Amino acid sequence: MLFKQQALLRQKLFVLGSLAIGSLLYLVARVGSLDRLQPLCPIDGRFATRGQDEIPLRALQFKRGLLHEFRKGNATKEQIRLHNLVQQLPKAIIIGVRKGGTRALLEMLNLHPAVVKASQEIHFFDNDENYAKGIEWYRKKMPFSYPHQITIEKSPAYFITEEVPERIYKMNSSIKLLIIVREPTTRAISDYTQVLEGKERKNKTYYKFEKLAIDPNTCEVNTKYKAVRTSIYTKHLERWLKYFPIEQFHIVDGDRLITEPLPELQLVEKFLNLPPRISQYNLYFNATRGFYCLRFNIVFNKCLAGSKGRIHPEVDTSVITKLRKFFHPFNQKFYQITGRTFNWP
Ligand code: A3P
Repeated sequence: MLFKQQALLRQKLFVLGSLAIGSLLYLVARVGSLDRLQPLCPIDGRFATRGQDEIPLRALQFKRGLLHEFRKGNATKEQIRLHNLVQQLPKAIIIGVRKGGTRALLEMLNLHPAVVKASQEIHFFDNDENYAKGIEWYRKKMPFSYPHQITIEKSPAYFITEEVPERIYKMNSSIKLLIIVREPTTRAISDYTQVLEGKERKNKTYYKFEKLAIDPNTCEVNTKYKAVRTSIYTKHLERWLKYFPIEQFHIVDGDRLITEPLPELQLVEKFLNLPPRISQYNLYFNATRGFYCLRFNIVFNKCLAGSKGRIHPEVDTSVITKLRKFFHPFNQKFYQITGRTFNWP
């Protein structure tokens, strides 16, 4: 009898213990995904304009995994239909600027449950051959998403390519345009560093930055050098303003995105009429990389590739001073047009 009671007690303790461990594991798992486990809102809130309904968020973590599989091309047509997945044209595009932090911005925005990124740069609007393939070709390049989500793509060459504003306007005249900028001289050196690395990889030699940035005949800034021209932000923006009002642009501070990404991302959420969902939990500083990295949940996090955050070569200070002086009036104009002022020298 006593033996039977003891066995029963042991059994009960075992069940209670299992329940306690199960609950604990569940809680631990949830901590990592609290941001993403928001209640699901009604299905048909689209990319709302200001004042209208916010974009509803999908709720369940597992759906993100499912979507990931679909994006990798592991979905059958039936699964796509069943889950109501679509390939949508972007509602917002990161149009530039090259080396401004375009990849970091895209990846960080992708932390938002209502955002789906196009992983590759599509180069639809700046490449004549691609553009000739038509808008359906472009749409088919987009990732699968739920109808209430928004797709974002980034192709930094759009910002400086002559034909692009008109082409994007023809696709969607109310599209939202994101431009991420850095202090122009730093951006130009970053641009140079990328090209230099490409040459070195092919065992080629290359000029020093100073030689490219300064015209040896006049000793003035060489405005024919592409890395310099790209940093004259106002010149490019003025071309875009022939098609889109300034309200359709949002300027992201690329230098601040490096040191303090969250407030910059919150401004973008606001601009895109997205409910604030990216939190400090999603961003952690990785001392080894020297940059913020991304945390999606308790198990999944990632840093950007090593090609982001290169060490810049030392540049002669007189050349830096000359460049900064050269960019100064263009910067002033850029602040005036955009309404966003930076502490650039
Ligand atoms: P550097 O390589 O000059 O440091 P893009 O993606 O437009 O090519 O921009 C690259 C720049 O993104 C890098 O320039 C780097 O400074 C910046 N960046 C911003 N946030 C970053 C992050 N979290 N991780 C790595 N690079 C980041």
